[in-house]
Amino acid sequence: MRAELIDGKAIAETIRHEVAADVTRLAAHGIIPGLTVVLVGDDAASATYVGAKEKASKAAGMQGETLRLPASTTQAELLTVVERLNVDPSVHGILVQMPLPSHIDPDTVIRHILPEKDVDGFHPVNVGKLLIGHTDGFVSCTPAGVIELLVRSGVDTRGAEAVIVGRSNIVGKPMAALLVQGRAGGDATVTICHSRTKDLAFHTRRADILIAAIGRAEMITGDMIKPGAVVIDVGMNTKPDATKAKGTRLCGDVHFESAVHVASKITPVPGGVGPMTIAMLLRNTVRAAERTLA
Ligand code: GUN
Repeated sequence: MRAELIDGKAIAETIRHEVAADVTRLAAHGIIPGLTVVLVGDDAASATYVGAKEKASKAAGMQGETLRLPASTTQAELLTVVERLNVDPSVHGILVQMPLPSHIDPDTVIRHILPEKDVDGFHPVNVGKLLIGHTDGFVSCTPAGVIELLVRSGVDTRGAEAVIVGRSNIVGKPMAALLVQGRAGGDATVTICHSRTKDLAFHTRRADILIAAIGRAEMITGDMIKPGAVVIDVGMNTKPDATKAKGTRLCGDVHFESAVHVASKITPVPGGVGPMTIAMLLRNTVRAAERTLA
């Protein structure tokens, strides 16, 4: 058996077209959705992600802007920038790229962003809304993208044993909240595993749906997977590879070559969850703009 690939690139492309259609519809009301990304410092990986976000928002017909601030920016200066964006009516979505330099407290910055413009879904108000099932907040883009992948690939989550490996605030915890709620892509029985879990393989082998979000290269191997399971790999790691010009290659948290013979469906890395994150960011931004109409 070889698992069917869940094509995140193609599904993300469909969502981007849906978003572009929404942008056209909003234009009739005189609204251009605006997304401002704030990048502090010169971390190379962050600069690449931010460039991709700006490009995608422009391609969808939005007003995409990036504010690049020096690494020496103080927390007070960054909060002033956020406050200016909070009151700017042309800015519907604000995203402060993480990680921030160590002299800035990320939680303070996140709490400063207006929840109505927090298209990352990181603000405590939005996290709380997700947990109690209110649909007028914003959901963190990566877990929201995973649900879209499951739903659009025809995976029935109802009553399924879903096991999440990783308990981060950005992926693991919101992922659990989405899978457990009583709507499409939910109604699963959810287990969260983490670094202190005893006998990780015992849990992963019970999973009908296994979500790997640990951030450790190829940690989940085929023998840890139940035959026929759906495997979603959120990992984005680099591994030494002498055959590549860079000397490294991108890999997930799942050891793909062993997992692909056990799972029924699996996401590749790259081309699985990654492209969905930006697609969901664009969708959140369009929703932020739409809500200003109401
Ligand atoms: N850094 C890596 N991924 C993300 C993300 O989704 N949002 C923000 N704000 N920073 C990130």
